[in-house]
Amino acid sequence: MHGKSILLIIGGGIAAYKCLDFIRRARERGAKVRCVLTRAAQEFVTPLSVAVLSEEPAFTELFDLKNETEIGHIRLSREADLIIVAPATANLLAKMAHGIADDLASTVILAGDKPVLAAPAMNWRMWTHPATRRNLAQLAVDGVRFVGPNEGGMACGEWGVGRMAEVDEIISAASAILREDAAARPAHQSGPTLRSKCTGDTAPQDGASSSGALTGRHVLVTAGPTYEPLDPVRFIGNRSSGKQGYAIAAAAARLGARVTLVAGPTALPDPKGVATVHVETARDMFDAVDAALPADIAVFAAAVADWRAAAVEAEKIKKGEDGPPQLRLVENPDILKTVASRGAGRPPLVIGFAAETGNAVALGSKKLASKGADWIVANDVSPERGIFGGDHNEVHVIRRDGVESWPSLSKDDVALRLMRAAAEHVSTSQRNASQREGNL
Ligand code: CTP
Repeated sequence: MHGKSILLIIGGGIAAYKCLDFIRRARERGAKVRCVLTRAAQEFVTPLSVAVLSEEPAFTELFDLKNETEIGHIRLSREADLIIVAPATANLLAKMAHGIADDLASTVILAGDKPVLAAPAMNWRMWTHPATRRNLAQLAVDGVRFVGPNEGGMACGEWGVGRMAEVDEIISAASAILREDAAARPAHQSGPTLRSKCTGDTAPQDGASSSGALTGRHVLVTAGPTYEPLDPVRFIGNRSSGKQGYAIAAAAARLGARVTLVAGPTALPDPKGVATVHVETARDMFDAVDAALPADIAVFAAAVADWRAAAVEAEKIKKGEDGPPQLRLVENPDILKTVASRGAGRPPLVIGFAAETGNAVALGSKKLASKGADWIVANDVSPERGIFGGDHNEVHVIRRDGVESWPSLSKDDVALRLMRAAAEHVSTSQRNASQREGNL
């Protein structure tokens, strides 16, 4: 943090008191901290305490002529190396997700070109509300990073996930981002610049082997399993490792694409050069996919749970005298089918997967039609073949005009071959479309 400038946006939540400690601790580590308080934040901490601890003016108003002439909201955000939003209330996150700039805090965030770290804090019901989930998914796609929230007792007396991360955690998340940022910035580059805020920065272009065949394209990939909660500790899941989907995302980035990976819980590190959005449930995955569209190519490699519990118990289900609980399941949204059946906004190339334990080509062909995909990558995942969790895959690429069966390849090779074929397909379709237009 030494020598770095942090712009701390303090939101209106009880956890705002932790910001005072944060200012002190960040300054002890050599950082300069400037603070903006929302109107609600001033109900919890005073601009005076913030100004005294930071030894900088505390900024509160968008239309403050003195500050507008002396510093201005654009300079406020551009002069920072990192913007931290803490506590990031549900309201502040919603404004950030929608680009609303109706006060100084939201305006400096929108005007910023530096990494943003948000430390959410809210009641657990607000945290799990579908509107908040949608906003979080959008913000993750936009490259906003998160620390917390943690589980614990809340100011309102309830227990759950929604407590703001501790100051130590915010300090280490901020330090990690500043380190990554310094490493990603070329040595000759100085002063404020616009850069991608996606995880791992922009897609690496690896010279000879990457033809850049996907440069300028947006590729959206789903990967991994989904977890469908039954109660606070149990869930319904599956054995998907996510390896094939992650390899596809990495291959697309290698070919120059801007890539969004929407990943269920896996043990894999985020691929370099890929904006990775982490989700748990099928509905969260659906929202994150929706937020990431439009895309030129969408690859649905996730093993999405078809069903979820009709009701998630707030307390751990106990072993009772009435025997095992009766689970009532309801169907999850079919993400692939919904996206493939869209009129406007349908990605030009939609690729689905069919992991089968029978005749993969026959079952995959059925799925091609029933889901409305352009291609289905089908494979036999019978346990004796070691595909689930393994590093190799043997796939059949089913298109409307035929099937191509590939030999057993590493998942990385399957990914690269698939993305090269996809790149060629979208370029050819685009060329044909422009020729048709030219002939009219
Ligand atoms: N898929 C999806 N959303 C779902 C279920 C599946 O996007 N709710 C996608 C998967 O990512 C995959 C394809 O649909 O690309 C096929 O998934 P699969 O589980 O094999 O198909 P199901 O429709 O669930 O059919 P079944 O389980 O009966 O074989």
